[in-house]
Amino acid sequence: MTSITLLLLAIILSSRTSGATSRGGLFEASAVAEKHEQWMARFHRVYSDESEKTNRFEIFKKNLEFVERHNMNTNITYTLDVSQFSDLTDEEFRARYMGLVVPEDMLRISSSGSHKKVSFRHENVSDTGENMDWRQEGAVTSVKNQGHCGVCWAFSAVAAVEGITQIAKGELLSLSEQQLLDCSRDYNQGCAGGIMSKAFEYIIENQGITTEDNYPYQESQQTCSSTYSVAATISGYETVPSNDEQSLLKAVSKQPVSVAINGHEPAFKQYRSGIFDGDCGTQLTHAVTVVGYGMSEEGIKYWLLKNSWGRTWGENGYMRIKRDVDAPEGMCGLARLAFYPLA
Ligand SMILES: *[C@@H]1O[C@H](CO)[C@@H](O)[C@H](O)[C@H]1NC(C)=O
Ligand SMILES: *[C@@H]1O[C@H](CO)[C@@H](O)[C@H](O)[C@H]1NC(C)=O
Repeated sequence: MTSITLLLLAIILSSRTSGATSRGGLFEASAVAEKHEQWMARFHRVYSDESEKTNRFEIFKKNLEFVERHNMNTNITYTLDVSQFSDLTDEEFRARYMGLVVPEDMLRISSSGSHKKVSFRHENVSDTGENMDWRQEGAVTSVKNQGHCGVCWAFSAVAAVEGITQIAKGELLSLSEQQLLDCSRDYNQGCAGGIMSKAFEYIIENQGITTEDNYPYQESQQTCSSTYSVAATISGYETVPSNDEQSLLKAVSKQPVSVAINGHEPAFKQYRSGIFDGDCGTQLTHAVTVVGYGMSEEGIKYWLLKNSWGRTWGENGYMRIKRDVDAPEGMCGLARLAFYPLA
C-alpha cells in the first residue's frame, strides 16, 4: 500500500468513527422518542397536533431524565418510573390532579389539642403488632382510578368506609365515589377539591352511601341522584390526634384511615416501588388511605397507602412510605390530618 492509500484509509476510518459517535447521539434522542411513543400507547395518550406532541415530548423527556437519574443511584430505597402524569409539568399536574382542600381553621384546631379535646377512641390501643395489611383481612377493594378529576377526597373517604363496613359487617362492598362527587356539596367542590371529613358528614346526614355498581364513577360532577338503595352507613367519624405517628398507628391497627398528604412532587407522582422517602414537603395537597404498616427485610418501617391513580402507578396502585421519621408531621405530612369513620 502506498502512503496515500494509508492516509485515505485513515480518513475513512476516522470519519466512520465520528459518524458512529454522532449516530450514538442520534440514537439516544430517538430512544427517548421511542419511549415517548411506547408511553403514549401504554396510557392511550393522543395529541391534537404535531406541535402539541413536540411540547409534550419535551416535558416527557425532562420527567424521564428525572426518573432515570434517580434510578441510577445505588443506595435508594425506592424506584421511580414514568407514570400517566409524565407529560405534564409539575404545575399542570398540581392544578389538575391535586384535589385536597383543607378548611383554613382545621389544621389550627387539630394541632392545638389542649383547647379542643378531640375524642380518639383508639387512644388506649396497645396491641398494634409489627404489621397490618387490611388487604389480607379482606377489608380493601381493588385500586380505583380518579382519572382527570381532583376528587381524591372522595376516593380516600370511600376506601375508609369500605374498610370499616367490612370490619363491622363482614361484607366487602365497593362504594360510590360518584355519589360523593355529585351530592357532598357542603364545602366540597367536586373535581375542584374537597376534604374527607365533609364526605363523612354527608354520608351521616344522608343516612348512607350506595354501591359503585348502583352509582358508577363518571370522572366529572353530575346532578345528585337519589334513585339508589343505601348499601353502607356510618354513625360518625373521628380525627386522629395530629402530628403523632404513634396515634396513627393505633388507628390503622383497627381500621383503614383517610389521610391528607403532600402528593404533588415529581418523585411522588412517578413513584414505582420500594419504600418512599423522597423529596416532599408537608403542605397537604392530596388524599389517600392508609391500609396497613410493616417493616421491610432491611429493617425500614413503612406505611401502606392505597392511592386512586389506577394500578399502573406504584406497587399495583399502592405506595409503601417511610414510617416513624424524625419530623412529627410524618413523611410528606401524612400524620398532620387523618380521619376515620365509625361503624
Ligand atoms: C445516598 O448517598 C448519598 C451520597 O452519599 C447521600 O447523600 C444520601 O443521603 C444517601 N441516601 C440514602 C437513602 O441512603
Ligand atoms: C384510656 O385510658 C384512660 C386511663 O385509663 C381513660 O381515662 C380513657 O377514658 C381511656 N380512653 C378511651 C378512649 O377509652
